[in-house]
Amino acid sequence: MNMIQSILAGGLNSKQYSNSLSPVPRCGPKAFKNAIAQKKNNIASTSSRSRKNKVGTTTTTTTTTTTTTTIRKRKAKNNNNSRKKVGAKKTKKKFTLEEEIESLGDLSTYQIPENLLGKEGKEGATYNIESTLTGQAYAMKVFRSTKSGAKIAKEAQFQKVAASLGIAPRVLGYSGSGKIKYILMDKLSHRLTDLARSDEQNYELTAEQQQNIIECADKLDQLNILHNDGNALNLMTDDDGQVFYIDYGFSKTIDKKLLKKYGPHVNGCLTISMLVRSLRHHSIKAPLLKQYVEQCKATANR
Ligand SMILES: Nc1ncnc2c1ncn2[C@@H]1O[C@H](COP(=O)(O)OP(=O)(O)OP(=O)(O)O)[C@@H](O)[C@H]1O
Ligand SMILES: [Mg+2]
Repeated sequence: MNMIQSILAGGLNSKQYSNSLSPVPRCGPKAFKNAIAQKKNNIASTSSRSRKNKVGTTTTTTTTTTTTTTIRKRKAKNNNNSRKKVGAKKTKKKFTLEEEIESLGDLSTYQIPENLLGKEGKEGATYNIESTLTGQAYAMKVFRSTKSGAKIAKEAQFQKVAASLGIAPRVLGYSGSGKIKYILMDKLSHRLTDLARSDEQNYELTAEQQQNIIECADKLDQLNILHNDGNALNLMTDDDGQVFYIDYGFSKTIDKKLLKKYGPHVNGCLTISMLVRSLRHHSIKAPLLKQYVEQCKATANR
């Protein structure tokens, strides 16, 4: 039984599994990922998800201009039909994002309880928006009116940079002033915690989900962004099961001080470490993430 299979079978105790990950000094987080990838190649059922990158979606909005390049494949954008609302125009005409955003009209009208996504938090709430033009769904994170515009701009900016590597939902626009303060973004389909609680997963993240989370953390490190809010509710997936980090409200730039203290895997040492605790709090097992954090910390202390 290979490593992935033994994880899916529910255990990390197999000798074969522990052997495949044990040599910490020669096995940094990168090698750790490679070990997973290697093992994954050996299993017959490969993922149906394409990891092929796709470059080149540029969008601008009316209130606050946004330019985002999306790299990771995003099914939603290429498959508007799947999200078509009953009564939406049945036309093949392609609309620009500006036209579509304009067609949404007054965004404050969507701020009603029926449109709530998730729970209303201290800082505000996130609402579902559907374009009557294309049927495409979006998420609008609305902040309390006293929230500083500069903080909202900072959050949107971190998210835009993360979205450039396809690990955060694309930001379509934001506003830190006016009638409502918001960030408008692509809507994601599932909370990872809900998937983990499903009968199929039985309170354990799949090896692929864990690997995806590690990849996101690596990309955040590459972008010099410390996500810094390892709450399990801040992980969502798209229709393809691809994991995304949302909520860049606590994010920081990784500076020299952080690099000196934590080494090259700052998100592994901090964000994923927090995430492991949060998942434990939700009774969700994520053994690969736990090992990843240990290896990141070992690398930092070398
Ligand atoms: N892009 C999205 N697509 C679908 N649902 C989303 C999206 N963004 C947020 N949500 C839903 O809204 C919830 C809250 O979002 P988020 O984590 O950004 O805000 P928060 O934690 O309340 O805010 P803050 O951390 O700023 O106080 C998420 O847990 C999720 O259920
Ligand atoms: Mg959050």
